[in-house]
Amino acid sequence: MRIDVAGRRVMTEVVQVDPERPSQEDIARAAECLRRGGLVAFPTETVYGLGVHALDRAALRRLFESKGRPTNDPLIVHVAALDRVAPLVVDPPEHAAPLAARFWPGPLTLVMRRAPAVPLEVTAGLESVAVRVPAHPVARALLLAASLPVAAPSANLFSRPSPTRASHVLDDLNGRIDMVVDGGPTQMGVESTVLDLTVDPPAVLRPGAISVEMLRTVVPSVRLATVRVVPDGAEPAASPGLLILHYAPRAPVMLYQGEPAAVRRAWIGAAHKAEAAGMRVGVLATTEDVPLLTGVPVVIAELGSEHDVDAIAARLYAALRDLDAAQVDMILARDVSRVDGLWRAVRDRLHRAAKRVTVID
Ligand code: TXA
Ligand code: MG
Repeated sequence: MRIDVAGRRVMTEVVQVDPERPSQEDIARAAECLRRGGLVAFPTETVYGLGVHALDRAALRRLFESKGRPTNDPLIVHVAALDRVAPLVVDPPEHAAPLAARFWPGPLTLVMRRAPAVPLEVTAGLESVAVRVPAHPVARALLLAASLPVAAPSANLFSRPSPTRASHVLDDLNGRIDMVVDGGPTQMGVESTVLDLTVDPPAVLRPGAISVEMLRTVVPSVRLATVRVVPDGAEPAASPGLLILHYAPRAPVMLYQGEPAAVRRAWIGAAHKAEAAGMRVGVLATTEDVPLLTGVPVVIAELGSEHDVDAIAARLYAALRDLDAAQVDMILARDVSRVDGLWRAVRDRLHRAAKRVTVID
């Protein structure tokens, strides 16, 4: 809960907008709040972001405080259009223009050399800056109206799953931020792809909604950064800002690798054992799993069909939050073996949320 100078409680204002056609009045109010240094959560096509005037150092400090985010984790700067990127970067690399032309507006973040105008608070002291032009009509309208570069991390408390609905933002940040622009659930559900263009060949630092295969249609040399995801989160990040244990619900996530039927048998065994020990167990299940878990003592969060990666990505964070809300003590989940398309991003997020990976053979 924030307290203002007069000692009053400061509540977070929620503004409901039409996700396709937000009212200009509502957008103008949110834009004004940003211009005055306020913290405004808004929907993007990936997850909700917590926006702040990217050139306002005091506002940036409030942002890190409100999220409990370590200041060594750099922020993405969001702008309304490609022509707003130039003041933020120096020497844009040759691949930037064709990638921007193909994927912006959209869920691709490009890391380039920082212009002196970008505060080091935004970049966590790095000489590079991450930039993206989001595609969501509400984000676009807000960025246009504010006419500012807007630094926006995902609008969750640090290390909690990213928010895909306004209610998730409020669960984490009610009273800590000024406003939430509620444009309904976000479409993609996993964060943007982060591509480092300061190295050659360019390296994917975070897999996301734009797949490696899609990037390679424009820049064939794109490679994956070698970030080792360590389940127990013990090792330091291989690249600045890429923290290992992330996106995690409160309950530990146990990932199982193996054939679907074998994984289900392992889940059922684990569930009965946990029940005997007085624990509540949650399962991240596919639609195909659900009928096979009848009578098993578990709380089920259904992701969608095992054949529908878009649905699974869109539901993943909400499902983790639903299981937390159901107060489970442990979450059983299935690892993803595929790495094509969006599967890579889903796999990455599962591993970052996981406490332990068990291989069933
Ligand atoms: O989809 C998204 O990207 C969402 C929406 C709100 O746009 N934003 C988001 O922001 O996921 P955040 O703060 O949760 O993740 C940003 C990540 C950092 O953790 C870091 O890994 C990377 O982007 N990043 C930012 N600036 C960087 C830089 N200069 N060099 C390397 N990585 C950077
Ligand atoms: Mg985040």
